[in-house]
Amino acid sequence: MRSDRKYQSGFGNHFATEALPGALPEGQNSPQRPPYGLIAELLSGTAFTVKRSENLRSWLYRIRPSVLHGEFRPVGRGAVVTSAPRDIITPAAQLRWNPLPFPQDKGVDFIQGLVTFAANGDADAQSGNAVHLYACNQSMDNNFFQNADGDFLIVPQSGGLELRTEFGIMDVEPGEIAVIPRGMKFQVRLHESTARGYICENYGAHFVLPNLGPIGSNGLANPRDFETPVAAYEERQGSFRLQLKFGGEMFEAGLEHSPLDVVAWHGNYAPYKYDLRKFNTINTVSFDHPDPSIFTVLTSPTDHEGRANVDFVIFPPRWMVAQHTFRPPYFHRNVMSEYMGLIYGVYDAKPSGGFDPGGGSLHNCMLPHGPEAKAFEEATQAELKPQYLDKTLAFMFESCMLYRPTRFALEGGLLQKDYAACWQGLKPTFNPKVR
Ligand SMILES: [Fe+2]
Repeated sequence: MRSDRKYQSGFGNHFATEALPGALPEGQNSPQRPPYGLIAELLSGTAFTVKRSENLRSWLYRIRPSVLHGEFRPVGRGAVVTSAPRDIITPAAQLRWNPLPFPQDKGVDFIQGLVTFAANGDADAQSGNAVHLYACNQSMDNNFFQNADGDFLIVPQSGGLELRTEFGIMDVEPGEIAVIPRGMKFQVRLHESTARGYICENYGAHFVLPNLGPIGSNGLANPRDFETPVAAYEERQGSFRLQLKFGGEMFEAGLEHSPLDVVAWHGNYAPYKYDLRKFNTINTVSFDHPDPSIFTVLTSPTDHEGRANVDFVIFPPRWMVAQHTFRPPYFHRNVMSEYMGLIYGVYDAKPSGGFDPGGGSLHNCMLPHGPEAKAFEEATQAELKPQYLDKTLAFMFESCMLYRPTRFALEGGLLQKDYAACWQGLKPTFNPKVR
């Protein structure tokens, strides 16, 4: 695979990259005979006619067109669920899960290691999203994957990944994220013997950077810190499999060549990665909390401005300086539904354990939640000095639609039975005679 593994910086830029000099046609997209005998192919990530500021497409110059594949045959879905599960009651309860174990069996690759915990919306209608976890112990070699249903926002929690895509190669480690938009063929290889992490499969509008309003033109995730791979290709023939997620089902087709044969491409529909440690965290320097939306990295908007199909939000290391303020996350109820995961460290609202790296929690629409009893007690008594919250990285997928847990999530043995106990020690301190 020819690549020096460099990246191009920027979010949503119109990139132009070639793995062979002069492979990109000059002055037009689809010449009669592209350089090197390549074939031009368009990949559209939005309808042709959406407004220019939202229009996403790339031109690929490849050895063989994508249409050279065998017949797609349905194969089992495994533990992957696409639509909101209706075969099991969504509990009206705060839910929390132990970490997904690494596979016991050998030879489990990234796709085989996918397990859905919750989903909402409808991939057919291009609305909603799913929360998957992955745990695997084998690199993909002769198989490739393409998702027609949604974009994959990959959040590694343990072990790095080499994402070999049609557009080039990206390496991501825990603390970084990668987005592979729908339709792109890719393969996942492991840096170490195992890997685990979270995925938001976004069926809705592609992720964009949030508007900054009064924050101004800088801050949060800065566009220049997003990295898109340069073109890289392999000319490999043999017996390969292309796995396809399409309409909520899994299919498989034979290929006689590697589909990672794009020698050059240009356009603004491309995969990217981002190091969460580059997030410019903004918060109060006086008192009280901004809402957690202040920590939004990426957002998948709906047609109703400000109401996200799904937001990707992080809780990174940061200074806590608020005066005369209850500093942990406040108790609240929210019309939005919140799935949380932990990449490393301790989350400040849950210091007593139970919310572990690789685990997750779900606080669905209007279900009350907040700091556990210990965190509440300590925070109300603490002497409020500036404090650096270090070595911690939690995140949230926050959606305007209810996350309906899958049967695996509820009956697969990872659900904690006693999560709500973390709040039961909260005792009233109300005294009408003492203000
Ligand atoms: Fe919340």
